Amino acid sequence: MNSEYTAIILAAGQGTRMKSPLPKVLHPVAGQPMIQYILNAIAKNKFKEVRVVVGVGENLIRPLIEAQGHTCHRQVQQLGTADAVRQAHPESIEGNVIIVNGDHPLIRAEDIQAILKEFETSKADVAVISAVVKNPGSYGRVVRHYDQVKAIVEAKDASQETLKICEVNTGMYVVKAEVLNTFLPKIKNNNKQNEFYLTDLIAASVESKKKVIAIAAPQNVAFGVNNQAELAMATKKMMRAKVKQLMEDGVIVIDPSATYVEPFVQVGPGSVLYPGCFLKGQTVVEAFCVIEPNVFILDSKVEQSAQVRAGSYLEKAVVGKKCTVGPYARLRPGSVLSEEVHIGNFVELKNTHMGARSKAGHLTYLGDAEVGEESNIGCGTITCNYAVDKKKYKTKIGKNVFVGSDTQFVAPLEVGDNAVIGSGSTITKSVPANALAVARGKQFVKEDYVKKGDS
Ligand code: UD1
Ligand code: CA
Repeated sequence: MNSEYTAIILAAGQGTRMKSPLPKVLHPVAGQPMIQYILNAIAKNKFKEVRVVVGVGENLIRPLIEAQGHTCHRQVQQLGTADAVRQAHPESIEGNVIIVNGDHPLIRAEDIQAILKEFETSKADVAVISAVVKNPGSYGRVVRHYDQVKAIVEAKDASQETLKICEVNTGMYVVKAEVLNTFLPKIKNNNKQNEFYLTDLIAASVESKKKVIAIAAPQNVAFGVNNQAELAMATKKMMRAKVKQLMEDGVIVIDPSATYVEPFVQVGPGSVLYPGCFLKGQTVVEAFCVIEPNVFILDSKVEQSAQVRAGSYLEKAVVGKKCTVGPYARLRPGSVLSEEVHIGNFVELKNTHMGARSKAGHLTYLGDAEVGEESNIGCGTITCNYAVDKKKYKTKIGKNVFVGSDTQFVAPLEVGDNAVIGSGSTITKSVPANALAVARGKQFVKEDYVKKGDS
């Protein structure tokens, strides 16, 4: 059905009320640019074509849009929403057009699907998507006469009487392309803001006896972001909905209002999320995991029954089954822990693989390293992976190796299976399997060094 539909997204506006140098539609809602949610909702409905009208901040918005196979249409001056639609060249569109404001991030794929279905069955020429809201504020009001939609009146142009109407324009419309192309060129800018209002399409179509209807949509469709407070509210609403869904799917959330989980994160049933944790991006937390307070996880995988303890920071990392990480651990990109690994407090890993059941319990940095199964990395161990030539070098540690505390490995080097490194060693050469390596100054003791009466 949707092969008949072209989408036009309006995203050229300055977003003056945001008072921020970033173009409005790139402001993040739950970690993603707000326009991305509309693009996702549209992509799921398989439109024939998506045209995005860009203007302010075009150089920043265009790459995002084009990377997804959509076209950008420049509106040089922001002369109003009708002018914006004109820049998308609707004259070259056949079939039906859906027009959406780029600043309504809570619109979901299923909302669009339901709207298109109702448009089909109604056989209307034009539909404005409306919602009844408690505080209609600056929204355009849907004015009816004997129940029939007559016009949309912008708040700035409305009389006191009209301002009392609680049915508002959500900024979304479905219209037959030929009807749009008949009336769009006729819209004028004789209003308070001297703008070409797309909303005037409604009154013009009604006057020419076209079938104009309002399709009722839920509150989330009506929710537009025009300032920083509404932006924060959009993120909050999205979080609440996500966390509610997780709880319905069996995730244990100690304090839903203090738990930040982005929309594309997956959490398995029986896992526990403590307050203050941030789960971001494409993160997957499998079943029966515990994510303690103030843990930050971005684009990482935490496998079944693993525990990430308070204050840990994970980025593009994999935590294997039954691992324990933290408190206060940092897993940087490329950190991969096999099963039952233990990473303790103040341990930092980068581009490092820890074999099954290996441990690094305290105060350690392992970068560009490979650690075999069952090996133990003592407290204070450091891989010196970054050399004076500004290149990175690898440290390879075999299975069942015992690394004494406060060891430095000056990479590149290898340590064979079962080797033992004496604590305090600065290891600069490879160590064969089953060997003991000690590289530190010998202890020197001079007795009676301090003479009686000296101290
Ligand atoms: C608009 C509607 C209003 C509706 C509200 C819903 C008009 C005249 N008013 O008001 O009835 O209740 O949305 O949120 O349409 N844009 C452009 N070029 C322009 C002007 C705007 O691309 O010249 C884009 C903006 O980037 C934004 C969208 O159109 O994404 C809406 O513009 P905005 O100024 O936010 O309109 P509202 O005042 O919210
Ligand atoms: Ca708006």
